[in-house]
Amino acid sequence: MCGIVGYMGRSDSVSFLMEGLKRLEYRGYDSAGLAVHTGDALAVRKCVGRLAELENRLSEQPVQGRSGIGHTRWATHGEPSEINSHPHLDSSGRIAVVHNGIIENYQELRDTLEKQDHVFRSHTDTEVIPHLIEQERTDGAASFRDALLAALRKARGAYALGILSQDEPGILYAARLGSPLIIGLGENEYFIASDVPAVMNRVHGVIYLDDGEVAELKPDGVTVFKLDGTPTTPEIKTVDLQPEAAERAGFETFMLKEIHEQPRVLRALLEKHLDHANRIALPEIHAEPDYFRNLHRVMIVSCGTAYHAGMYGRLLLENLTGLAVEADLGSEFRYRSPKIDQNTLFIAVSQSGETADTLASVRLARDMGCRILAICNVPGSTLVRESDGVIFTDCGPEIGVASTKAYTAQLLVFALFSIWAGRLRNEISSDMEQDFVRALKRIPDAIHYVLERDRVIRDIADKHHDGPSALYIGRRYNYPTALEGALKNKEISYQHAEGYAAGEMKHGPIALINEYLPVVCICTRTADAVYEKMMSNMKEVEARHGRIIAVATDGDEAVLKLAEDIIYVPDTREELSPIVNVVALQLLAYYAAQARGTDIDKPRNLAKSVTVE
Ligand code: AGP
Repeated sequence: MCGIVGYMGRSDSVSFLMEGLKRLEYRGYDSAGLAVHTGDALAVRKCVGRLAELENRLSEQPVQGRSGIGHTRWATHGEPSEINSHPHLDSSGRIAVVHNGIIENYQELRDTLEKQDHVFRSHTDTEVIPHLIEQERTDGAASFRDALLAALRKARGAYALGILSQDEPGILYAARLGSPLIIGLGENEYFIASDVPAVMNRVHGVIYLDDGEVAELKPDGVTVFKLDGTPTTPEIKTVDLQPEAAERAGFETFMLKEIHEQPRVLRALLEKHLDHANRIALPEIHAEPDYFRNLHRVMIVSCGTAYHAGMYGRLLLENLTGLAVEADLGSEFRYRSPKIDQNTLFIAVSQSGETADTLASVRLARDMGCRILAICNVPGSTLVRESDGVIFTDCGPEIGVASTKAYTAQLLVFALFSIWAGRLRNEISSDMEQDFVRALKRIPDAIHYVLERDRVIRDIADKHHDGPSALYIGRRYNYPTALEGALKNKEISYQHAEGYAAGEMKHGPIALINEYLPVVCICTRTADAVYEKMMSNMKEVEARHGRIIAVATDGDEAVLKLAEDIIYVPDTREELSPIVNVVALQLLAYYAAQARGTDIDKPRNLAKSVTVE
């Protein structure tokens, strides 16, 4: 998601703009920029890459002024580039705009403006806004405010905007429709930001702009009005100034923050493990290629959510490498007499690296001669210290007891490892590797779009959270997804939930179906029989009046006849669909828990790391 900050006051704006953007970095971005009113002109500095690049640009070309707007961009329309980064200007360079959201009718607006001799510099939807305001002024709007309101009434879609006009040195404008934007109230200084952490410790209160509201920030105060110009008296809320609130980055819980961090985490993992030719590199694995070429067998052991990742990894590894692969629970494996030896690669999956049952299994495998590969999130953990090689999930501290970003990172790591090993063993071609890599690179944006549907998912959770139980079903790669969705639901909402292989319905679970039972069906479209089989399962459930909640691919209309509720997700390869689908189920569980009033970050009876049997 993009991040927006703005400042109006008696100090220099640049220091706040940079501080505020740094506090929004968790949102993920690929470029950054700012515009400052220097007193007689607008000065713009923007560049691709991290905020450090922008700081370098500012040290080379310093700028200062008492009002300014800043932006971190997550590219949606137009690739990451300096010209596409924000702020964007009108033809005259006298209007600067930063934007979070999507202007859905931007193309028709742009076509009209180009006929009116407006020249566009970027490929973004955002750039139509400053040109639209400029045209309204040309067409005779009585004031900048009138021009802005008229322009916004023509825009459709979602926006959070910060706007500066060279001709209005003492005013910073802000507007909101569908994308969050807050107004921070300080001591003779006022702020705008995408959310609270950007203004922590600078404000005594905030105004949460409502959809269709516009604000004018002046050195002596803030006025808010609607798109038709009528003034409103917004509610001023106090800010939770606890340091932990800053760590939560303005989210109500760590779990929600960590759910929203997933696009950034996965994008960073991909950047780390793809070389300049888009080939997969796994330097921390510490094993010579011949070891993997001569390997006979893989044993994957883990617990809880990490076990669901292991089940996924088993499917993908055997599919892409030709190896015999097994996945088991640490609490069961440690009591087995497994047939493993020096020709077996033992993969231990653990977020914490401290889970007792997983560690006990590692020690058993080592005694039997196996090489140990860890997939872990904590450098220096016991598991990492006792392994021969490691692939880190690199998702930063996961505070919420219920694992979310670590899980999707584990899935991504299994995808990277499976493709890498499959290529090494000549089981997949270079073209297939490149096809997989292209699909992997689309995953962060796909998750981003699921996150944007959180209101739909919350409404579904509100409908179904109060039943005694829920059933989750899926097939093949999405059978582990069904298990993980059910685990999320039971561990944070305390509503019983059971994950099942959809193919097992006739072997028992179909007896459960009635008009009170929500049945979450993961039926994203795949190119083969699994999708058709899932549709059959859903018909069986619907015929018995089960209440179907479908996770389906954007545009799939067949599910409309069967499902009571649908969570649409972007299309992707079936092998990678669990990484996207599970995010819908994380949010479904989250909002069920919220509706049931549980302690989401610290669910009863649970610990973040199970260091005992
Ligand atoms: C997941 O939401 C749970 N908190 C739990 O199942 C967890 O996945 C399991 O205890 C394994 O933890 P680990 O990944 O740290 O080994």
